[in-house]
Amino acid sequence: MNETTGNPAMRRATTWLALFITLGIAVQAYLAMSAYAGAGADALDVHKTFGTVVLLAALVIAVTTYYGFPDRRGLVWHAATVPVILAVQISLSRADSWLGGLHGFLAIAAAVAASSLAAMVMRAGRA
Ligand code: HEM
Repeated sequence: MNETTGNPAMRRATTWLALFITLGIAVQAYLAMSAYAGAGADALDVHKTFGTVVLLAALVIAVTTYYGFPDRRGLVWHAATVPVILAVQISLSRADSWLGGLHGFLAIAAAVAASSLAAMVMRAGRA
């Protein structure tokens, strides 16, 4: 497998975006819990706005992975799962009862996907 193909700037962007998304999801958990604990609408407003930023970063990471690692189709598919999980996750933010819990559960799945992508692209970048 040829590791030298692909745009180096896109590879770096992929690494930083994967780390940003992972950390961003942790911040989202903090904001949601702050809202529940009494910070209320203010924290929820920040949660909604920042959540949109994290989703946009996830859409961009699918593109940067594609151009950064054109010979690593597995990585590209892995990256593509992140915006898909987040889109489903966000669409469930107003669901009722047990289904609504999937908004939090799928956030963890997205964090796992983004953090494992970060580890994989850092390894691929060193190879
Ligand atoms: C980690 C656990 C999370 C919890 C407990 C949580 C909780 C919540 C709650 C309680 C709401 C308000 C729903 C309503 O308006 O009635 C909400 C909305 C929202 N959350 Fe989360 N959230 C989490 C993670 C995330 C993540 C990771 C993202 C995106 C990256 C995100 C993006 C959003 C967005 C965009 C909305 C607004 C949706 C809309 O107004 O239609 N959340 N979340």
